[in-house]
Order: sequence, then structure tokens, then C-alpha cells
Amino acid sequence: MTTNTESLNAGDLNLSALTPGEENEILKNTIDDLKAEIDKYKTAPYVVATITDILDSGEAVIRLNTGDFCVNVADNIKHMIKLDDRVLVEQKSLTVVRKIGISKHFDVSNYIICEKPDVQWKNIGGLDDQINEIKEVIELPLKNPGIFRKVGIEPPKGMLFHGPPGTGKTLLAKAAAANTDSTFIEIVGSELVQKFIGEGAKFVKSIFALAREKAPSIIFIDELDAIAAKRIEVGTSGEREVQRTFMQFLSEIDGFKHLGDVKVIGATNRLDILDPAVIRPGRLDRILEVPIPGKDGIRDIYKIHTSKMHLQKDIDLEELAKASKGLSGAQVRSVCTEAGYFAIRDNRHIISATDFTSAIKKVKRDEKNQNHYRMYG
Ligand SMILES: Nc1ncnc2c1ncn2[C@@H]1O[C@H](COP(=O)(O)OP(=O)(O)O)[C@@H](O)[C@H]1O
Ligand SMILES: [Mg+2]
Repeated sequence: MTTNTESLNAGDLNLSALTPGEENEILKNTIDDLKAEIDKYKTAPYVVATITDILDSGEAVIRLNTGDFCVNVADNIKHMIKLDDRVLVEQKSLTVVRKIGISKHFDVSNYIICEKPDVQWKNIGGLDDQINEIKEVIELPLKNPGIFRKVGIEPPKGMLFHGPPGTGKTLLAKAAAANTDSTFIEIVGSELVQKFIGEGAKFVKSIFALAREKAPSIIFIDELDAIAAKRIEVGTSGEREVQRTFMQFLSEIDGFKHLGDVKVIGATNRLDILDPAVIRPGRLDRILEVPIPGKDGIRDIYKIHTSKMHLQKDIDLEELAKASKGLSGAQVRSVCTEAGYFAIRDNRHIISATDFTSAIKKVKRDEKNQNHYRMYG
């Protein structure tokens, strides 16, 4: 039997069947392999950076979390690198040694919610004026762009919803998508900032690309203030990064057509800190307040959330609404859930007025506790 010992090592063979020469060769291969494996463990890791400038001198400016550095580039990749490339740099000298391709990271669909929602307008209580405005600004242009061409006006590219938490901003945006059969792409500003350090701008780009691909679509950016807050100075590299993400966002909005089939809705409960650049004409220039509901609004929201519950006959939703003054839509929904729990604990499936009174008390108390934690926790 002839054996090519070049690529074999001890684990592959029954050694007793070999000549001493072959056996030696195999053991040597084994040692070489193990040495190479040990070397892998010894090498220091490379640092991942982004190219932000390429200089005539052949050097490059790279960005790390700690700041920007002007560094050398290894000869063999000099001709390959471009602005915004992600590269590996050597730890000590920060010399750029390798380019890394677009990682799975930029399969944005892993990081955002992209769906066809089924929220109907009738599932939203107390916001009739807001719904009408959304129908005009988002629904009509998506469904019937011809009307706008005929009349010769341009509908807004997007809207800004503002108001306290739990008042139905997300719900409204979803209903707008459902009623236009649009893809609903939801991202959260604060997550964009925390998860994509150094890559927020690219991420924003990918989101708009995805929206165009899946058009008609509505991009919903919750907590918009996290990327679009007024800044007095842009000092730290983190702040510069947020600024870059924000600039990319604005340029994406500026880049698409008024009558296209992508719309953008931003939401915030901090209108006061929002950079006015967001609401300039041609951007999210329709501003819609989504306030805490009034008494009639609360009654309508109760109607929606109790529609599948068995209520005792004497329950008067008007009275409930009065007792729930100041609650948001989300809190009204919590009251219904809590009332249901009171009944369950009492082995009943019919909900009584007392269940509701206790539930309202509980939801109000929970809010107080939460505020306490927010302030002192
Ligand atoms: N106006 C409303 N009508 C019916 N339900 C509401 C309303 N507002 C809030 N809700 C309920 O509260 C939940 C959370 O509301 P959400 O739209 O996320 O509020 P926001 O985005 O303003 O914080 C909704 O899924 C819905 O069940
Ligand atoms: Mg929301």
C-alpha cells in the first residue's frame, strides 16, 4: 500500500499499518497542525473600524468608538478600500490590514419589525380628527396619486405624531399601513442609537432601501427624538455618530418623491427637544398632536376594549369614563385587563362595576409608582 503522507495526520490512520518513515512524517504533520492551531489562540484580535477618509498620501482616516485616527494601509489592499468600508486594523499601529464584507448585520430585516398590520380605524377610539388628517395625508396619496397630479399639488412626504406615551401613535401608524395595504416598517430611535454604534447611518440607508423594495410602505420611527434632538454642541464621538445617523435620515427623506409610495411617520413624546430640521417643509411637515383622550374619547376606547368582555348589565361606560379622567388609551386597556383579573380571582366570568373601580385604582397607583421609579429609582 502506498500512502501519500503529506496531508495526513495521526488522527486519520491506523499507525501500525505504516512504515517508520511514513509514521514519522504523519506525526510531524500532526505537530505542525497543532502548532498552527495554538498560534491562532495567541494572535491578538483585530479591531473593527470604518474608513471615513482616504488621503492622497495613501493613508486613511478610520473611525473607532474612541475617535478618528489617521493610519497606514497595507499595500495589498490599498486599491480596494473605499469610504464607509468596514475594515480590520492591527491593534497597536492601527494599520488597516483587511477589508471585511458587508456583514449579516445589514440584513436589516433581522433588526426591525416589518409586517402587514391588521389594525382598523374602528379599533381606535377618540381620535377622529387625527384619523381624518392621516387619511388625507397618507392614505389618499398612496391610494389615489392621480388626484394630486390633476390638482397640481404635492402631498406631504410624512407626518410627525407627538403626544404622551400610550395615546395611540403606533396604533394610528399601523392602521394607516393596514388601510393602504402597505408594508409597515417600524424602528425605534433609541435602539438605532444603542445597537448600531458606528453604523447607524448605514442602517438608515438600508431601511429606506428595504422600504422602496417592499413599497408601498410606511416607515414608522418611534422615539424619533433619540436621533433627532436639538444639540447645542456635538462633542463626543457618540454624539457625532448620532448626528451622522440623523443626517442620513434627512437626506433619505429629501431624496424621495412626494408622490412616491414610501411615507415616513415619526413619533415622539418630546416635541420640545426635537431638531426643527425634521419638520421643515418637504420633510415631516405635517405635525399631528395625539393627546390624552377626553371623556368621550375614553368612553369610546372602553367600548373597543370591552367589546369581547362580559359586562354586568348595570355598568355605565359614561360613568367609567368619568372615573378614568387623565388615563391614556393604553391605560384604559390595562383597566379592562385588570378588571378581568379581579373577576377571574373571584371565579366569575362576568365583570362587575366594582372590578372596574378596583382596576382603575390599581392602574392609577401603578402609574404613580412608575413615576416614582422614574424620578428616584
Ligand atoms: N386611542 C386608542 N384607542 C384604542 N386603543 C388604544 C388607544 N390608544 C392606545 N390604545 C391601546 O394602547 C396600546 C398602546 O398604544 P400605542 O399606540 O403603542 O401608544 P403610543 O404609540 O402613543 O405610545 C394600543 O395597542 C392599544 O391597545
Ligand atoms: Mg408607541
